[in-house]
Amino acid sequence: MKKAQTALLEWYEIYGRHKLPWRLTDNLYHVYLSEIMLQQTQVNRVRDEYYPQFLAKFPSLKILANAHQDEVLAAWSGLGYYSRARNLHKTAQLTQEGLPHTTTELMALPGIGNYTASAVCSFGLGQNIPVVDTNIARVIKRHFALLDPKVKTIWTQAEIFVNAQEPRSHNLALMDLGSLICLPKNPKCEICPLQSSCLGKSEAEIYTKTKKTVYESMELFFGICIKDNKVALLTSTQKMYQGMLVLPSTEPIEEDFIASFKHSYTKYRLVVNLYKSQVIDQDVKWIDINEFRSAPISSLTKKALKFL
Ligand code: ADE
Repeated sequence: MKKAQTALLEWYEIYGRHKLPWRLTDNLYHVYLSEIMLQQTQVNRVRDEYYPQFLAKFPSLKILANAHQDEVLAAWSGLGYYSRARNLHKTAQLTQEGLPHTTTELMALPGIGNYTASAVCSFGLGQNIPVVDTNIARVIKRHFALLDPKVKTIWTQAEIFVNAQEPRSHNLALMDLGSLICLPKNPKCEICPLQSSCLGKSEAEIYTKTKKTVYESMELFFGICIKDNKVALLTSTQKMYQGMLVLPSTEPIEEDFIASFKHSYTKYRLVVNLYKSQVIDQDVKWIDINEFRSAPISSLTKKALKFL
């Protein structure tokens, strides 16, 4: 175990992604924000766009807590999975003076699960605890030859493996090993620092039963109504887009047809049809087309509004 821990740290020292901005800070709010953004979003997009822009607008938990939800959703605009932003905002309101320092307290907050709580305590506070995300789970399963283990078993094994002297670097190293070397398909075992101790290396693929994503096709019909450079939008009450501004649904009337386009969102493969529309709901908000950038609008709605 000790040899494997040392080999892992030596590899991390040379090949680790040390310059990711959330690894260069001990500001717990910044670490927490990065972990929420990095769920379901690529590292480069978070690093180059969303993380710096969000922190420029909301540099502290207190400022985030006091912002209007619309502003928070607008800063999240295009990232998808908007419940992340709503929970982030709620958590900021509950912890304005600072995030708690234990996984148990963190997990009692909205939108914080086992992984996020451990990541915050390990990466932000250097606590001697395991962290398990999808990449780390794969490394652990292969290295210790755990075939089809329960989630709890992976966490327990990760806990046994943590290097008590350097827990933070150990966990980050496992994460990087999972995303750079111990790949789901064609892992690069020949250059892996753990190859001599890895119990699963000869059959690396049997540890990665991938669940096939089941896509759902849907067709949507939206009405576009414009007056004086303003577009009629509604605040969504749908769970997925709650709080976001969306185009109102409409009946498809052939003569009013404007355009159709395809859009993918989470598991949905959508065909979106746009129609000119007059009939407008009372709750409509009129958004100036020059203000789309600062409005809480999803990528789908932005795409639709390009047809203006
Ligand atoms: N560094 C710390 N947390 C990370 C994450 N979730 N993804 C990539 N790099 C990270």
